Amino acid sequence: MADILKISNSGPLIGRCGVPGDKSISHRAVIFSSIAEGSSRIRNFLDGHDCRATMNIMRAMGVRIDEISSTQLEVHGVGLDGLREPNDVLNCDNSGTTMRLLAGLLAGQEFVSVLNGTAQIRGRPMARIVDPLRTMGAQIHGRQNGRYAPLTIVPSRLSAIEYKMPVASAQVKSCLLLAGLFAHGLTVVHQPGPARDHTERMLSSMGAPVTALGNTTHSERPQDPLNPLNIIIPGDISSAAFLLVAASAVPDSQLTIVDVGVNATRTGIVDALSEMGADIRRRSRPHQGGEPVADLIVSGGGLRGLDFGGEQLVTMIDELPVLAVAATQAEGRTVVRDAQELRVKETDRIATTVSELKKMGAHIQETPDGFIVDGPTPLNGAEVDSHGDHRLAMALAVAGLIAEGETTIYNAHVTADSFPDFETTLRALNVEVQELDWASENE
Ligand code: S3P
Repeated sequence: MADILKISNSGPLIGRCGVPGDKSISHRAVIFSSIAEGSSRIRNFLDGHDCRATMNIMRAMGVRIDEISSTQLEVHGVGLDGLREPNDVLNCDNSGTTMRLLAGLLAGQEFVSVLNGTAQIRGRPMARIVDPLRTMGAQIHGRQNGRYAPLTIVPSRLSAIEYKMPVASAQVKSCLLLAGLFAHGLTVVHQPGPARDHTERMLSSMGAPVTALGNTTHSERPQDPLNPLNIIIPGDISSAAFLLVAASAVPDSQLTIVDVGVNATRTGIVDALSEMGADIRRRSRPHQGGEPVADLIVSGGGLRGLDFGGEQLVTMIDELPVLAVAATQAEGRTVVRDAQELRVKETDRIATTVSELKKMGAHIQETPDGFIVDGPTPLNGAEVDSHGDHRLAMALAVAGLIAEGETTIYNAHVTADSFPDFETTLRALNVEVQELDWASENE
C-alpha cells in the first residue's frame, strides 16, 4: 500500500465500477458465523485491515477460517459455547467495530480476554460500552476506570438490562445485543434515533432471538444453535460515497457503481447529494444476505449548499468528510450540525477535515458539532495529511481530483482499511493517481 498518493485534476469520471464489500457487514459476518453451528460461506468479504483484525481474533479463539480467496471465506462455526481462551492479547488494530462488538461477545464467555490495538484506538471512548456491560454484571477493566482500552474481561454471569443509549451508535447497540445472547433474561436496547441495523438483520436471519421494533431492539439467549450463513456481502455504500461525490462534483461525469448496499440506515449520503442537486438514480438488484442492494447511477452537475442535522446525520456519519468536499463545490452555504460523534472517530474528523481542506483553499469553518462550508470554491492542489484516517485520506483524494494542480496526500496507506482497491478503481475511471512510498519520494 502506498505511503503517499499524488492526484491531479483529471476531468469527468466515466464508466462502471464496483466497490469492496461492506465493512460493517463483513465484521458481523465473521463474528456471527464463528458462533454459529456449522460452516458458513462468506463472499465479497472486505479484505481490509479492520476486518482482518476481527478475523484474526476469531481464529485466536479457536475458529477455523479458510480463505478460499482474499474475499471468500469459509468459517467453521464452533457454536455459542465453543470459543476458547486465547493465549495472547487480542489485537483489534485500529478498528472500533472490532473492539466494541467483541467486548459484548467476550463479556459472557467463561475465559479471560484482553482487547488492545493501536494508540489511536486506545484514545477512543470505551465507557459507552463498558458502563452498560458492567450494569449487566460484566467484569471489565480498562485504563481510567474502563474509559479506555486495553480492556480486560474476566468471566462473570450476565443479567439482561433495559438500556437507553445516549447516542445512536450501532457499535454500542450491537455490543449489548451480543452480550444479551449470553445473559439471563431479555436485553432491551432503546436508541435515540435510527442507527445501522445490520446486526439485527443478520442475527435474526441466523435464527437468533433478536428483534427490532422501531428504535427498540431485543436479544436473549438462543434455545437452538445459530444457523450458518451463506452470504454475498453487498458493496459498501461508505466506499461508494467517495465516487458518488467525485462524479457529482465533476461536470459531465457519468458513473455506474454496481451492487451497493442501500440499507436505509446507511443511505443518508445518497439523499444528501440528491437534495443538493446531484442526479443519482437507483436500479434495484436482488437482496443479498437480507440487505437491499442497488446499482447507483450518478451524473455530474450543479450542486447547491444545504443544512444537514438531526437523524439524517447518523445515516451518513462516516460520509461527512467527503460531504464537506462536495460542499466546497456547491453554490451557497452548507451547514452540518449535530455531528459531535465525528470527534471520536479514527480522528477528530471535524478538526482534521477542516484543517486539511483549508490547505486546499476551502472556505470551511469548524463548529463544536460540525462545520460550515461556503462555496463554490476553486480548490488548489496542496500537500495534505490523512492523519492515519482512511476516510479522510479518500475524501482528500476526491478533493485532489477536483482541485487545480497536484495534491499530495501523506499517510495514504490507510485507504486499505476499508477500500483496498481505491487507487486502482480511480485509475480505471481515468483519474490520474500516482502511488509512492517514502523511500522513492526521498530518493
Ligand atoms: C459502525 C458504526 C458507526 C460507524 C462505524 C461502523 C458499525 O459507529 O461510524 O464506522 O459497524 O457498527 P458508531 O456506532 O460508533 O456510530
